[in-house]
Amino acid sequence: MDMELPSPEQVAAILPKWRAEHPRLDAMLERYGEPVKALRHMGLLLWQQGDLGPATQMLAGAVSLSPAEAPLWSGLGGVLFAAGHRAEAASCIKSALSRDPTQATDWLMLGTIHSTEPDTSVAEEAFLNALQCDPNSPDAVISLGLLYTRTKRYAEAARCLKDAVAAGAESPAVHTCLAQTLFNLGDFPGAARSFGEAVRRQPDDPPLRQKFGQARFLETILDCTLEDGLAAYQEAAGGAPEDFDKLTRDSFHILSGYGHLEAAIRLGEALQARKPGDPIQAYLLAALKQKPMDRAPDEYVTTYFDKFAETFDQQLVEVLDYHGPEKLHALVASQGRPLARMLDLGCGTGLAGPLLKAPGRVLTGVDLSPRMLEKAAARQAYDHLIASEAIAYLAQQEHGFDLIFAADFLVYVGDLAPLLRHAARLLAPGGLLALTIETTTDGTYRLLPSGRFAHRPAYIEDLGRGSFGLLRQEPTMIRLEANRPVDGALMLFERV
Ligand SMILES: C[S@@+](CC[C@H](N)C(=O)[O-])C[C@H]1O[C@@H](n2cnc3c(N)ncnc32)[C@H](O)[C@@H]1O
Repeated sequence: MDMELPSPEQVAAILPKWRAEHPRLDAMLERYGEPVKALRHMGLLLWQQGDLGPATQMLAGAVSLSPAEAPLWSGLGGVLFAAGHRAEAASCIKSALSRDPTQATDWLMLGTIHSTEPDTSVAEEAFLNALQCDPNSPDAVISLGLLYTRTKRYAEAARCLKDAVAAGAESPAVHTCLAQTLFNLGDFPGAARSFGEAVRRQPDDPPLRQKFGQARFLETILDCTLEDGLAAYQEAAGGAPEDFDKLTRDSFHILSGYGHLEAAIRLGEALQARKPGDPIQAYLLAALKQKPMDRAPDEYVTTYFDKFAETFDQQLVEVLDYHGPEKLHALVASQGRPLARMLDLGCGTGLAGPLLKAPGRVLTGVDLSPRMLEKAAARQAYDHLIASEAIAYLAQQEHGFDLIFAADFLVYVGDLAPLLRHAARLLAPGGLLALTIETTTDGTYRLLPSGRFAHRPAYIEDLGRGSFGLLRQEPTMIRLEANRPVDGALMLFERV
């Protein structure tokens, strides 16, 4: 282990000093007659009082005098963890477990120490071992449930947290966590029930009540009207929604994302009746109703992304696990081609800019949304940023490019014939066309309830035939939607 233990001789030498400094240790030594027990009790007492330094020294002393005793290692591991020495703590707990692997609390501690690491397998195994040692340990089930929630394994999380509740776990945190997990699984009635339990135990928590309200709103609106949903919200949250637009907009996306299309249409129609001119609502409702469309209307794209620009990076990358620019850039870079003139279509906030830009390369970004372009400009990676509809921009260009790059942009364009035609005209021979798409297995392209288009890869290949050769095609997870991965592909074409 990394922490150095004192030798038994060193402990014996320092004991008189400790006795003088800690009269209670003196009394314990009198009572127990042997130092190991006294040091252990004194160490635990000091830990309880928050004196972590002396507590560590005494518990280390006890271990040094009797290293075969597992509980001494556990105590030392515990105080080291409390003092923030994770590696040393883990090593002590492992020493305890190697002497006695039947202690659930030690496995629990080991899991807790490892639970914040990116690789959660050690923590998971430790919590499972804890449960094997003590199948009724609510702490072990809760810890496992929280670990699964953090790693987005919601079905497993829900199972653990339900078990914990069934075994008598009472805390509002467990009910809240179960509620959020069920919500993430799209089980709104279950989420409403669990949020209700949490609110019953913790009534003076406005954000919790709002979540309860949203779950009740969604549960109600599955079968009833907007007004019924709002009444349910009000009763649960203890008042009308603070932000009606946010509640209803989020709920519309959630219903459509989880496949409750009828309820989403009903809510969408009620919202459109209240705000007939809203281009976002109009388009998403049209998408839900499967109205035939070639691409998303400019007004929708501009309004939607202008609103979204501020939180786009955080939302896409951190919440929705979106890494399109990195993945597509890696594919392009693998070709090792000279790319003097590059075009980033639908560049958005410019996540691809810093990856593509290099000395001697000219990078142009095109996007419809001025707010997204402002964010891209702040990255200082683009030589030119143009506010324009992308196909219209291509149509006006005469000078060529070596790379046309489109990450998560074709999801807003259904019919790709014009884009492929212009790309063939503008790319120099050997030039690259790099695309990410959401995939569908039938037809050519399909407008999804999310308002995004999915394409069949073979459709794009067919369009490019004669002008483009497919260099690479790789399946990829585009991002999460309703907490589930969205299937997609990276495609890299070469102008022949
Ligand atoms: C999901 S974002 C992707 C942004 C960026 N490529 C990335 O990977 O982070 C899609 C972007 O495409 C833009 N967009 C959608 N349709 C467009 C169109 N027809 N012309 C220009 N930009 C468009 C949107 O404004 C938005 O910024």
